Amino acid sequence: MTVLGIETSCDETAAAVVRGPQARKILSNTIRSQIDEHTEFGGVVPEIAARAHIEILDRIVAEAMREADCGWDDIDAVAATAGPGLIGGVIVGFMTAKAIAMAAGKTLIGVNHLEGHALTARLTDDLDFPFLLLLVSGGHSQFLLVRGVGDYERLGTTIDDAIGEAFDKTAKLLGLPYPGGPHVEKMALKGDAGRFRLPRPLLDRPGLDMSFAGLKTALRTQAKKLEPVDDQTVADLCAAFQLAVADVLAARTKSALDLFRARHPGTAPVIVVAGGVAANQQIRKALTAAAEDAGARFVAPPMRLCTDNAAMIAWAGIERLCAGPVDDMHLSPRPRWPLDSERAGKLGAGKKGAKV
Ligand code: KG4
Ligand code: ZN
Repeated sequence: MTVLGIETSCDETAAAVVRGPQARKILSNTIRSQIDEHTEFGGVVPEIAARAHIEILDRIVAEAMREADCGWDDIDAVAATAGPGLIGGVIVGFMTAKAIAMAAGKTLIGVNHLEGHALTARLTDDLDFPFLLLLVSGGHSQFLLVRGVGDYERLGTTIDDAIGEAFDKTAKLLGLPYPGGPHVEKMALKGDAGRFRLPRPLLDRPGLDMSFAGLKTALRTQAKKLEPVDDQTVADLCAAFQLAVADVLAARTKSALDLFRARHPGTAPVIVVAGGVAANQQIRKALTAAAEDAGARFVAPPMRLCTDNAAMIAWAGIERLCAGPVDDMHLSPRPRWPLDSERAGKLGAGKKGAKV
């Protein structure tokens, strides 16, 4: 099968053509980042994002089709992110996909963005179910048990900020540019992580939930005491922050692997990491070590497939098609769409809860 994928849920406009399930070939993977449009506001502005998607999506789709050397006759289905995400952008992408599917007479697949991240490792690493996924991005921080296509259990999540969001907010309060993650990492290299002692929120409690808002507040308190902060202090605060995040993730990863073993005693444990924060070298090292200690395999797809992209959406479309007939023509775009609705109900539909 050959599927066109479209992704517009945040600040990347992306289209890709992927062939599978046997060959597992990315024929094209076109991405245009909107970072420049949002930098001056210090974060993604939903209205600007939606408009930027409208302006360029048709060209991005045409480019992906051209690069894949495909005409509409070569495509079996169109898969697009139908949520969760910034609703303006999701509407642009999903309605465009609907229009293409209708005009070209193709099957339409509305993909859950998180399912795209969850299944990417099966495109890159030929992984069998079940496996653990740690998704760490600007909008999501969660441990997922991936049991099969459409069969996910969220084992733990942040109860407040997503990790990337915490990196971005930390950068902002220290006067570093957006997106903050790479800048915090760069500064941390020059810093002394031992100068400030920041908390490891929630680690004293069982379970796999995480919290990062308190960490950011503690950092702000320390910074305020020393105002105006010099470059070395910024570097030391970045190093302390990054170490605290790495510690929390490593500890929770070990617990997640314990839980995996208890649930699937006969299966060799695998943990897959996805999301922009996975680019962070210290966090990667901490996760690799945690997996190694627990005797588990650690899988990190290449960064361009870990961060938001349309190849993962096309691949999730292929997986859904393999699992049975699909027709999402009547599906509506949605800002919130937890992968396992049972767990989401317990968390409530608060501003952060269901989405993170
Ligand atoms: O997955 P992603 O590209 O987009 C979504 O949020 O969906 O992740 C972006 C997030 C941003 O918050 C960014 O600051 C963070 O990932 N990030 C990093 C690093 N590179 C990107 N965080 C920590 N260290 C990095 N090197
Ligand atoms: Zn994402």
